[in-house]
Amino acid sequence: MLADASPVTRLIHTAPAPAGFASLTQPVHHASTVLFPSVHDHEIRDGFDETRYNYGLSHTPTTLPLSRAVADWEGGYNALLTPSGLSAVSLAMLSCLSAGDHVLIPSNAYVPAKILAKGLLSRLGITHTLYDPLIGADIESLMTPATRLVWVETPGSITMEVADLPAIAKVAHAHGAQVAVDNTWSSGSLLRVFEKGADLSVQALTKYHGGHGDLLMGAVVTADHAGWHRVRETSHEIGFGVSADDAFLVLRGMQTMALRLKHVGDVALSMANWLAARPEIQRVLHPALPSCPGHETWKRDFTGSSGLFSVVFDPQYDDAAIARFVDSLQLFGIGASWGGTASLALVYRAMRGKVAGQNGEPGGHIVRLNIGLEAEADLRADLLRGMSALHGA
Ligand SMILES: Cc1ncc(COP(=O)(O)O)c(C=O)c1O
Repeated sequence: MLADASPVTRLIHTAPAPAGFASLTQPVHHASTVLFPSVHDHEIRDGFDETRYNYGLSHTPTTLPLSRAVADWEGGYNALLTPSGLSAVSLAMLSCLSAGDHVLIPSNAYVPAKILAKGLLSRLGITHTLYDPLIGADIESLMTPATRLVWVETPGSITMEVADLPAIAKVAHAHGAQVAVDNTWSSGSLLRVFEKGADLSVQALTKYHGGHGDLLMGAVVTADHAGWHRVRETSHEIGFGVSADDAFLVLRGMQTMALRLKHVGDVALSMANWLAARPEIQRVLHPALPSCPGHETWKRDFTGSSGLFSVVFDPQYDDAAIARFVDSLQLFGIGASWGGTASLALVYRAMRGKVAGQNGEPGGHIVRLNIGLEAEADLRADLLRGMSALHGA
């Protein structure tokens, strides 16, 4: 048939590849349009049915294995993919909340999640209250009849407090509210949120799943079918989709994620202990160290630690000294999106003094470190270079 068509038509309708090809990778299918074998098949299409295909936004043979792998790794029922971690935060919130509802958000949450609550959510008539991340069962005092969602991020983005998720979830459920956890720090594996009472988990796949600092993607993982159906509905309403090429890269990143996570976890802990003994460092905010708020909860609930932690410098070091420290680092880049192969350091100037020293004394500047895959000895040498610059050398 194609042989009779004009050359212009044959540019569009190329010959199909023969069946029977097998390789070690998932196929990369680029699709907006999905073709149906008959009018009947088109008429019975259903974007919720993962045994068939509907439209590029719903799922493809590339995105379906990825959403299942993400859910599987975390022990969830299923997952929805989104174009970034932040859009996974908004999808989770928008799928749980309507006008008149109230959401509780920890004060140490990823800043754009708080901006979302202050901006879009409040414009939609959804109110929020910030809570102390170490509040535990006392969250009871903040629950209102309108509270439909308790947001948890543990450990907290910069200051690393570890929340008592089981206690919070118990109270939330007793009030008929849902619990969503930003579980990106643990990659979904070091804290089994669904065993601790979460209804939804949010992952920035940008971090450990992608693992190389070269893409953006997120996921909302659900505990059960009902949650998945609701999040899927909201995702369809908004129209979130992800690129096939990025989905392929995340699938590839996930193949080495367990090894990377173990390595950066070991090196970060070793570096955290080393930094704790440095005179320039007042306090190390690493959940596996007793100096981190919520450390006892981390010991009870987590099975390990990842590669992101913060340090509080002695308050004698001013803005200029801390900038000298970070600027002189040659291996630690100055950048935000952690979880990749390269080490990073970020100073949070506005957070200066926000975390007290270990004995309650006034705290200094906070610098957050992402440990990458470089040799540990080289990373230590780099930090020592930074310490010399800090002292003005
Ligand atoms: C804890 C946490 N959640 C969510 C996000 C958002 O991820 P993305 O950068 O993919 O939007 C980030 C990004 O830094 C994060 O640190």
